[in-house]
Amino acid sequence: MSAQSDKKQITLSSLKKMKEQGKKFTCLTSYESTLTSIICDAGVDVVLVGDSLGMVIQGHDSTLPVTMDQLVYHLECVVKGNKGAHIMADMPFMSYATDDMGLENAKRLMQAGANSIKIEGGEWISKMASMLADRGIPVCAHIGLTPQAINRIGGNFVQGRNPEKHELIINEAKSLEEAGASLLLLECVPDALTKLIMNEISIPVIGIGAGSSTDGQIMVVHDLLGISCLDKLPKFVKNFMEDSSSIQEALANYVKDVKSGNFPAEEHTFY
Ligand code: KIV
Repeated sequence: MSAQSDKKQITLSSLKKMKEQGKKFTCLTSYESTLTSIICDAGVDVVLVGDSLGMVIQGHDSTLPVTMDQLVYHLECVVKGNKGAHIMADMPFMSYATDDMGLENAKRLMQAGANSIKIEGGEWISKMASMLADRGIPVCAHIGLTPQAINRIGGNFVQGRNPEKHELIINEAKSLEEAGASLLLLECVPDALTKLIMNEISIPVIGIGAGSSTDGQIMVVHDLLGISCLDKLPKFVKNFMEDSSSIQEALANYVKDVKSGNFPAEEHTFY
């Protein structure tokens, strides 16, 4: 049973409505109950139980070692602290490698309390997005930089800088919307590409390192709180603790800055 509050439940319809009204929405990762509760108090709309937990919780150097059992465990913790945010859960590496695995593992996440699931990849995940959507499971399709494919990509590089990749990402976005994805997450792409995608599709788009024109923004909560263990932070990260005297204030400032369009600023954007 999740923590009760008088706060309204954020649904996919709420996110779509915010998009229609030109209001930005906020997303943050969380992996445990207490922080989720504080994140909700700050007014964050979407909490992602991300496979970034492989890095920030487990200390690995990629998301690849995260298992379904671990994701479900952290999701259950987050659900207990939730006060009305939309909970999205990542499908970990290889958990949707086949149709059957994807259906079974998405079922586990939804039964553990997720409101939507997120899968990474390009056009090849269209079929999975469509199968899950047909069965009532809202899908967020994560494109651009897809950390589960880090070994193929070769590093955390900005995606879509050359004309072929640019075109490919636009087509991926369109085909994933057509396949039935409810949300799109764009990671590490140039601002101009994000703007083109925003003109082409109508589902809400969440960005990380994708400029300020997306409908929502997401950050890894550890990065926001300035407790990253990376030697060099990605350009799109802002440490909100620098100008705040408490975690609560940092979270509130993140919400305020995203909603007002002050974050991400030019210095966090790839051109
Ligand atoms: O796992 C994660 O935290 C993510 C975000 C970086 C978008 O996928």
